[in-house]
Amino acid sequence: MARHTLLGVVILFLIYVFISNSLFKNPKLKNRSVEETQIYSSHHDHIEQQPLMVDKKTDLPFKDKYMLSKQANPTTEPCQHVAFLKVHKAASSTTQNIFLRYGYDRNLTFVLPRPPKFFYPNIISTVTSVNNKNILPPPVNKHYDILCCHVIYNRKAFEAIMPKDTAYIGIVREPSEHIRSIIQYFRPKEIYERFNSTDPIADFFKNPGRTLRNTQSYLNNRMAFEYDFPRSLFYSKDNDGINNYLRKLANEFHLVIVVEYFDESIVLMRRILNWSIKDILYVKLNESKKDKKPKISLEDKQRHREWAVLEYALYDFFYKRLWDQIKEEGKDFVDELYYFKSVRTDVTNFCSGPIANKTSFKAPKSKWNDEFIVSEKDCELMFKKEIEFVNSIKLFQYGDLIYRTLNDTTKYY
Ligand SMILES: *[C@@H]1O[C@H](CO)[C@@H](O)[C@H](O)[C@H]1NC(C)=O
Ligand SMILES: *[C@@H]1O[C@H](CO)[C@@H](O)[C@H](O)[C@H]1NC(C)=O
Ligand SMILES: *[C@@H]1O[C@H](CO)[C@@H](O)[C@H](O)[C@H]1NC(C)=O
Ligand SMILES: *[C@@H]1O[C@H](CO)[C@@H](O)[C@H](O)[C@H]1NC(C)=O
Ligand SMILES: *[C@@H]1O[C@H](CO)[C@@H](O)[C@H](O)[C@H]1NC(C)=O
Ligand SMILES: *[C@@H]1O[C@H](CO)[C@@H](O)[C@H](O)[C@H]1NC(C)=O
Repeated sequence: MARHTLLGVVILFLIYVFISNSLFKNPKLKNRSVEETQIYSSHHDHIEQQPLMVDKKTDLPFKDKYMLSKQANPTTEPCQHVAFLKVHKAASSTTQNIFLRYGYDRNLTFVLPRPPKFFYPNIISTVTSVNNKNILPPPVNKHYDILCCHVIYNRKAFEAIMPKDTAYIGIVREPSEHIRSIIQYFRPKEIYERFNSTDPIADFFKNPGRTLRNTQSYLNNRMAFEYDFPRSLFYSKDNDGINNYLRKLANEFHLVIVVEYFDESIVLMRRILNWSIKDILYVKLNESKKDKKPKISLEDKQRHREWAVLEYALYDFFYKRLWDQIKEEGKDFVDELYYFKSVRTDVTNFCSGPIANKTSFKAPKSKWNDEFIVSEKDCELMFKKEIEFVNSIKLFQYGDLIYRTLNDTTKYY
C-alpha cells in the first residue's frame, strides 16, 4: 500500500516536472537575442563589476591537502576526457554546452542516457549514479570521453566507465540562490500545497518538516545529494563526517566551478584542461528572468543555513578552494580573465546580432592564443538547446541503431 502511494507520488511528480518544463522552459530560439541583450545590456561596465581576488572566507580546514590542481593531472595535450557533474539549477546548462561543443567538434564519445524511459534525453538519472541500465554502451571500438548529462555522482560508478586520465569538474552555487532557483523552477508541493498562506516560502523555511527526512527532495540539501554525500550525514550533520567527505571530494574533483565566479572558474578550467580560449566561450543559457524570482528574505536565508548544513559546508569549502587555486596561478591569471571577458562579450554581441549580416568574428591574438575565428556555425552551437544538442550527438554516435537496441539489457562494463 505504502509502496503504491509512493510510486504514485513519484509518477505525479515526474509528470509535473515534465509539464512545467514543456510549458514554461522552452524559450524559442527567436527570443534569445532579446534575452541576451537584457543580460548583457551593460556589457561594457561588466568587466569592472566584481572585485578580483577577494578571499572573504578564512581558515577552513585542511588547506594544503585539497589542492588537486593541474599538477596532479599534468597535461601538455588538451585533455580529452572529462566528467562534469551537471548539478540541477546551477548554471549547468551553460557549462554543459562548453563540453557538448568541445566533444561534438572533435567527434568524441559521450556517455548518453538510455532512450527515454521517462521524458528527457539529457537526463541519465536524478536519483542514482551511472549504471548499466541507464546509459548506452559506447559504440563498437570506442570508449567514453565525456560525461556531462544529469546524473548523481558516485566515484566508483564514474571510474568504472571513464578513462583513468579523466578530469573531474563539478559546480556549486550559493545555496540560498540555488534553492530559490529550485523553488522557482519546480514550484514544489512541499511548499505551495503544504502552506496556504501569504508567504509559503517563509513558512517553509521556518518549518521544513518532513522534507528533511526525504533525501531525494529537491528542497533537502540537493547539491549535497547530487555529490553523493553519505545519507547518514543528512540526518546526523556530523561535522567530522562532513569534513571527511569534503576532503574525499577535493581529492576527486580537479575543479569545482563556483557559479558566482563563473568566468574565474572557467578560465581556471581552461588552464587545467589545457584547452583554448575559443573552447571555453559561452553564452548564458537557461537563465531565469529577474522579475520572476521568488523572494527569499535574510531571515529565510538564516533559517536555511541552519538546516541545509551540508549545502553551506559544500559551498564554503569549494569557494575557498577555488580562490586558493587561483592564487596559485599567479598574476597573469587576471590578465587572462580580462581578455576572456572582453572576447566573450564581443562574441556574445556578434552571435546575437542580426542574422542577415553575420559572417564571422575575429578574436585578436593574445598571450594565450593566436587570432581565431568564430563562425556562424559556432554561434549556432553555442545557442543550441541542450536536448537538441544531445539528440544530434546521439544520432551521430549511434545512428538509427539506437532504436533497434532499445530492449538490449546486456551488461557492457
Ligand atoms: C598545453 O600545454 C602546453 C605545454 O604546457 C603548452 O605549450 C600549450 O600552449 C598548452 N595549450 C593550451 C591550449 O593551453
Ligand atoms: C567527425 O566525423 C565526421 C563525419 O564522420 C567527419 O567528416 C569529420 O572529419 C570528423 N571530425 C574529426 C575532427 O574527426
Ligand atoms: C486557503 O485559505 C483561504 C483563506 O483561508 C481559503 O479560502 C482557501 O480555500 C484555502 N485554499 C486551500 C487550497 O486550502
Ligand atoms: C547589415 O547590412 C546592411 C547592408 O550591407 C547594412 O545596410 C546594415 O547597416 C547592416 N546592419 C548592421 C546591424 O550591421
Ligand atoms: C533549459 O532546460 C530545460 C530543462 O532541462 C530544457 O528542456 C531546455 O532545453 C533548456 N534550454 C536550453 C536553451 O538549453
Ligand atoms: C521491446 O520489448 C517490448 C516487449 O517485449 C516489445 O513490445 C517492443 O516492440 C520491443 N521494442 C523494440 C524496439 O524492440
